[in-house]
Amino acid sequence: MRTKNPSSEPLILPEDTHLPAPLATLQMMNQVARSLGYTEGSGSPFVAVVEGVGTLLRADGVGVLVRNEAGAYVFRVAHGGLAEWEDYTLGDPASQLLDTLHARDRVTLFKRAQKNAWAREFLLAAGMHWGALAPIRVRDQNVGALLVNNRHAVHVRAEHVEAFENLATLAGVAVQEERIQERMEDIFMSVIVSLTMALEAKDPYTEGHSVRVAAYSEAIGKQLGLPSATLDMIHRSCLLHDIGKIAVDETILAKRGHLNAMEREKMDMHVLIGEDILRPISMLHPLLPGVRHHHEKFDGSGHPDGLRGEEIPVEARIMAVADAFDAMTSSRPYRKAMAEEDAVAELRAAAGTQFDPRVVAAFEQIYPAVKRTLVHMRPRIAADEFEKTT
Ligand SMILES: [Fe+2]
Repeated sequence: MRTKNPSSEPLILPEDTHLPAPLATLQMMNQVARSLGYTEGSGSPFVAVVEGVGTLLRADGVGVLVRNEAGAYVFRVAHGGLAEWEDYTLGDPASQLLDTLHARDRVTLFKRAQKNAWAREFLLAAGMHWGALAPIRVRDQNVGALLVNNRHAVHVRAEHVEAFENLATLAGVAVQEERIQERMEDIFMSVIVSLTMALEAKDPYTEGHSVRVAAYSEAIGKQLGLPSATLDMIHRSCLLHDIGKIAVDETILAKRGHLNAMEREKMDMHVLIGEDILRPISMLHPLLPGVRHHHEKFDGSGHPDGLRGEEIPVEARIMAVADAFDAMTSSRPYRKAMAEEDAVAELRAAAGTQFDPRVVAAFEQIYPAVKRTLVHMRPRIAADEFEKTT
């Protein structure tokens, strides 16, 4: 059981700041608890907790320390006067003190005038004189600590200590939610990587193609000012854009010479087959428009739906440019790689017909820098080897 009264000694300095009344505290707790369910757009499930602590204790600095697998405490979030500590890992003896905090299982308050170990290790910014720490638990496991630093002492009553403990409990919910999200992300990326590897194992000419298209596309999206969540989606969508080729006959994929009408039709089906392959996996649904529409053309003459202009999802318009550039500058069974300047000239010539002109302009800005990061990623079948096989 947790002890309600953290210290027998009142921790009040002359410059006292009044804390919220019980009703206001209750309302704040309620708001934090409700906000935890709506983390989208806020950047982190911890934001609501940190803001709640700021209101509750008039905090000048708030930090959420999360214990990692190695047992070290890392500032997962740090706001206000503690902002510079974000991502910092605490060493000893601070880490040992936090283990002690968990063994005690109660809020610890401290002030600089006490000159004790807590004040020495956890008043972390210049001018801070008063601090509070609460252990964060998830199912009785020690997962971290909630830290407050104040310039002036505050008049802490039992209900504020209890509310601070409750905020630490909510921080535990946030830790748990973040871990579940990370695990989902791992599974998500494993699925994407496995599918990409399956395609590249079948068609060695496409080795590295999806990764290069993803790198170019993400950089184009960034250049166009798209938000980071969209950039992540674009990256993943590019990794899987040609997954439907798994179902295209190898003789068509590896054919030397141009495809006849029937072969072209089968090849074109890869965008629809790709969509069908991915649809059963609900977490991949945001990637489907990019997969389906990456062969649409800006003037409406593409496939499968003949969309035009901005009817084409932005990721598909971006992917079309990156895909074409990488295809032109890579050796294929039916032709040698084109010089980069010539490929850029082709893109420019097709801006407004095949490609979105804004995307082509953005590509011209970013490609020299991205190309440098991709030099180690040329296809397994290099141009000179290609000569021998043709
Ligand atoms: Fe494709």
